[in-house]
Amino acid sequence: MSRTLFVTTALPYANGSFHIGHIMEYIQADIWVRTMRMAGHTVHFVCADDTHGAPIMLKAQAEGITPEALVARYAAERPTYLKGFHIEFDHWHSTDSPENTELSQDIYRKLRDAGLIETKVIEQFFDPVKGMFLPDRYIKGECPKCHAKDQYGDACEVCGAVYAPTDLVEPYSTISGAKPVLKSSEHFFFKLSDPRCVEFLRQWTTGNNKHGIAHLQSEVLAKTREWLGDEQSGAKLGDWDISRDAPYFGIEIPDAPGKYFYVWLDAPVGYLASLKAYCRKAGLDYDALIDPNSDTEQVHFIGKDIVYFHALFWPATLHFSGRKTPDQLNVHGFITVSGEKMSKSRGTGISPLRYLELGMDAEWLRYYIAAKLNSKVEDIDFNPDDFIARVNSDLVGKYVNIASRAANFISRHFDGQLRYAGDESVLSAQWSEAALDIREYLQKREYARAIREIMAQADLINQTFDAAQPWVIAKTLANASEEQRRELQDICSIALAGFKALSVLLTPILPALTGRVARELFGLDRGFIWQDAEVLPKHIAPFKHLMQRVTPEMLDNLFPEMEEPKAIPGGEEIGPTISIDDFARLDLRVAKVLSCEQVQGSHKLLKLMLDVGEDRPRQVFSGIKSAYKPEDLVGKLTVIVANLAPRKMKFGVSEGMVLSASHADEATHPGIYIIEPSAGSKPGMKIR
Ligand code: 2FM
Ligand code: ZN
Repeated sequence: MSRTLFVTTALPYANGSFHIGHIMEYIQADIWVRTMRMAGHTVHFVCADDTHGAPIMLKAQAEGITPEALVARYAAERPTYLKGFHIEFDHWHSTDSPENTELSQDIYRKLRDAGLIETKVIEQFFDPVKGMFLPDRYIKGECPKCHAKDQYGDACEVCGAVYAPTDLVEPYSTISGAKPVLKSSEHFFFKLSDPRCVEFLRQWTTGNNKHGIAHLQSEVLAKTREWLGDEQSGAKLGDWDISRDAPYFGIEIPDAPGKYFYVWLDAPVGYLASLKAYCRKAGLDYDALIDPNSDTEQVHFIGKDIVYFHALFWPATLHFSGRKTPDQLNVHGFITVSGEKMSKSRGTGISPLRYLELGMDAEWLRYYIAAKLNSKVEDIDFNPDDFIARVNSDLVGKYVNIASRAANFISRHFDGQLRYAGDESVLSAQWSEAALDIREYLQKREYARAIREIMAQADLINQTFDAAQPWVIAKTLANASEEQRRELQDICSIALAGFKALSVLLTPILPALTGRVARELFGLDRGFIWQDAEVLPKHIAPFKHLMQRVTPEMLDNLFPEMEEPKAIPGGEEIGPTISIDDFARLDLRVAKVLSCEQVQGSHKLLKLMLDVGEDRPRQVFSGIKSAYKPEDLVGKLTVIVANLAPRKMKFGVSEGMVLSASHADEATHPGIYIIEPSAGSKPGMKIR
């Protein structure tokens, strides 16, 4: 039975480039979508930029541009990454669009009509200089418990205390430095504590879709149980504050001047907005597709950090506005690089763009990521040595190797004709079965398992081929009997039928490579579908080079080491003139040294943890070991280049550069002096 699926990935914030975490999610979803399409199902696969909210508004202001211009800049980058990694969305939209405005406002009106919207006057911190209410992450102050300075509005990083921003001693706005004042204003709430909502969510979270697959993975369900509470302990869900006051970059709330939807209200609506825009483009009937009684299955791929929004708020929003609810939420873990956590906001880790620019094969990464993913909410790790080993041994050594060896005999001695000595239906049935298994694993998102099985098949093909020693027959082919010729042809044909079948099985993961195999080697006029696995090939074109090996140098280039500063003999001249715009590209910030330590194995570096006025401290490596003892730096203010691309170094990621003064010729004029701003300046202040 052919299914219709509406599939999305989380909408990325439009204030940054894609990082490896985004690409991992898109690869996971893209493999799944291709698996379904190869089975003949109809899939509408869409995404969009998540454009609204305070951080985007403030970043645009800091750059002196409109939020729309900021969003447009990132939107323009998206296709390079998506094409580069063979991620084929049908449509990429924006939450800052007429479709999203209309849908969000309509959903809100329906919730209001259902009696699920309530207003309450609440008191919040307000920045009197900036003239705006402050989201918690923009408020800092002294911890009410241990009195550590410069702590965030929700928790203390020194003693671990958790509190409300209003509990902070001497709070200040990280935007203007001003002392925030308490101000009250009316907010709109979605009444999730309403018994109807609690009842609905208990049902939906524990429910199955029509294929008997649970809406939620078991780990995710366990979380929602905690959040929802049970009949005995009573509901724990609080009402959800869905409004923000102007100035805010967002969608206006109907009949409420100066009030905007909180970004998390309109962001998931962006899934629908994107589908709607796509339907118009493709001539599809959006309303029919998304009707609550339609057969369309709605599937969302997301990361584990945004489960709360997708497993509680989103289904409730949809249900109580009379819409179709999600059929499956596929939650994945994070990706670490060499065991190190990547920062979502700063996008450290591997740069996907650098990967592409180095000419590295996108399908190596698709394969490697697939080889690590399963259907659980587990983190995966990108390890450079493991990456090299897997790609080279599996893809090149096992899979491509079959074709490169067997096809040559067939081209040279049999004019490309394949011929099987045994019962073809047995071989065909064997590959048909394998295809069913793999398809099943992929549908269940057990990618690692699928790849293990595929490689086990590749091993078998190679072993059978080696055991038959076709090269021995080939060497004496001039004097060989017809029987021996047939035997050589049979050995190679079986291996190549296997190679073709493996190519089918790998198609969702390696669409470009297997597309070439289908067209260039087996003469198809399209990419593979699942049924192709059981069709034994009758002919193969002369083998062409299919895939390069990864070299360690490529990985070194992906993670550049810190370069040694070059000494310039004789003094240092003033550099060439730059414009004020050149200077403006540098984002220099006041930073406070929270901690500082020696770096094992480095004779130059110290590792500093710096408060730069952000949600969490930055780790910076600095070549100042010869001049400073770590303990002397703690508590000092200094200046860093805050928008320097993060660099992965041997000892970890460096997220900025500390400014210091030194003589060009360190040997004759030793001494390094870090820059210290005058007292009174605060971490995060910009140097202009
Ligand atoms: O966490 C994030 O990156 C959000 N921009 C995800 C939004 S997903 C959906 F709700 F739009
Ligand atoms: Zn504290």
